[in-house]
Amino acid sequence: MVSLSICLIALMAPKSTLRSLSLIREIATALARCVPAIDALVRQRDNLLRERHHQRELYLDLLVKILTNVIYGDPSMFPGQSGFDPKLRDIGGDWPSLGHTMVGVARLKNLKQLTQRTIDECIPGDYIETGVWRGGCCILIRGILAANAIANRKVYVADSFAGLPPPNPERYPADADDTHYMAQQLAISLEQVQANFAKYGLLDDQVVFLRGLFQETLPGLAVAPFALLRLDGDMYESTIVALTNLYPRLSPGGFVIIDDYGTCEGCRTAVTDYRRDTGISAEIHSIDGSGVWWQRPLRHRESISESGAGKSA
Ligand SMILES: C[S@@+](CC[C@H](N)C(=O)[O-])C[C@H]1O[C@@H](n2cnc3c(N)ncnc32)[C@H](O)[C@@H]1O
Repeated sequence: MVSLSICLIALMAPKSTLRSLSLIREIATALARCVPAIDALVRQRDNLLRERHHQRELYLDLLVKILTNVIYGDPSMFPGQSGFDPKLRDIGGDWPSLGHTMVGVARLKNLKQLTQRTIDECIPGDYIETGVWRGGCCILIRGILAANAIANRKVYVADSFAGLPPPNPERYPADADDTHYMAQQLAISLEQVQANFAKYGLLDDQVVFLRGLFQETLPGLAVAPFALLRLDGDMYESTIVALTNLYPRLSPGGFVIIDDYGTCEGCRTAVTDYRRDTGISAEIHSIDGSGVWWQRPLRHRESISESGAGKSA
């Protein structure tokens, strides 16, 4: 390669500047001596990148373990359950009494993987979770941004911070029998969620709290685009309102995660209705039997607008 370059230089340069063949040989020898040094620099840079990647993964894997509290294995507080079952914690099948998320290890790892993809694949935008409970998923996203030294993207944390609303069966018949609103364990205050972020050193102005019902906070939200949406509101209404208001702002190539698709019928019906009504055909990927995700195509043929809050099931 080097000698080829030298030959080209020799051929292209005016003859007057090439004093002698020995001069060319000297240049070639000097350049050849540089090659091992350049190779060593490239190797050093690759090692540094590998080491940085390893450190990032160590931090984020530890974050997943702490947020789900598989470290100390706190008992479930889901009605009728007791003790710590690692298999249930893995698939988000319990409510940790102390852990900062109830989505479980598999869905948290999925969130980590898709958030990292938005960074690696330069999918523009912010992040939002609708339905945050103790805040664990949003804490993980903020941690991923920190681990990648990203300061120009925000995490939106949307919740009533007072539990789920009672159903509105006139408008959303699919929610008629929903009883989530009665679960006081699902009502975590804004102050408590902020305190949880602070415990990880991740409470700063890249985290924005949207307090109130989604039907009140999302329609007027002046934020776009999003790189990733994580919807975890359990009910038909909470899911359709989030999809209607947020999906049109999702970047092409961005991801939407639906936490309760496999376990809450109202949520699944809302997703089916929204996808059908807007012509979304992107493949749905299963995570662990409950959570699913899909990627908004880079070129989309959907007919999507932000008008209204979805139709009734
Ligand atoms: C199952 S929890 C979310 C779990 C959480 N993603 C985690 O990581 O553990 C459901 C949350 O959604 C909130 N929620 C559901 N529907 C809502 C709505 N329409 N408006 C505001 N908050 C809502 C509840 O207050 C609750 O915090």
